[in-house]
Amino acid sequence: MSYRRVCPSDAATQDAGAAFAAVLRPRDVVLLSGALGAGKTTFVKGVARALGVVERVTSPTFTMVRQHAAHNDQGITTLHHADVYRVNSLGEVLDLDLGELVEEDAVALIEWGELAATVFGREVLTLEFAIDASDEEARRIEVGGAIDAVRASALAQWSDA
Ligand SMILES: Nc1ncnc2c1ncn2[C@@H]1O[C@H](COP(=O)(O)OP(=O)(O)O)[C@@H](O)[C@H]1O
Ligand SMILES: [Mg+2]
Repeated sequence: MSYRRVCPSDAATQDAGAAFAAVLRPRDVVLLSGALGAGKTTFVKGVARALGVVERVTSPTFTMVRQHAAHNDQGITTLHHADVYRVNSLGEVLDLDLGELVEEDAVALIEWGELAATVFGREVLTLEFAIDASDEEARRIEVGGAIDAVRASALAQWSDA
């Protein structure tokens, strides 16, 4: 079973993020991968909207990690948003202490997270973003990683495939 969604516009990618928020539970770590401009930050904006983040979410490229207070009935009070694009080595990833982001009431979404995968000694969700070859406005998102039965049914709702 694979879970994927095609997003024909910027707004559709945000909506995909908002719908994906329903899949999240406290302590979840989500690693987002895909080329520059593939829609990772756009997606995170949608997640933030659905989790009741009031602040504006922008690309954390230069700060690496941002914290946003969240207000929802899922028990998630903090959204950590990281971007490790500019990090060159595993040593630098380790220096960021991303493991520390996994708090009881928080979720962490990490762009270019594939480099960070080894940092997390537990299962993570992965989101792969691809720009559609036939339509440069469209994006494809595929979900993988730690998908248990509860999440599988939520992801089936989320998925359009
Ligand atoms: N279907 C789409 N989904 C997301 N972004 C899109 C889409 N079509 C065009 N875009 C544009 O692509 C760019 C995506 O940027 P961003 O979300 O910052 O990507 P990333 O974080 O993966 O580098 C934005 O300029 C956005 O307007
Ligand atoms: Mg980005």
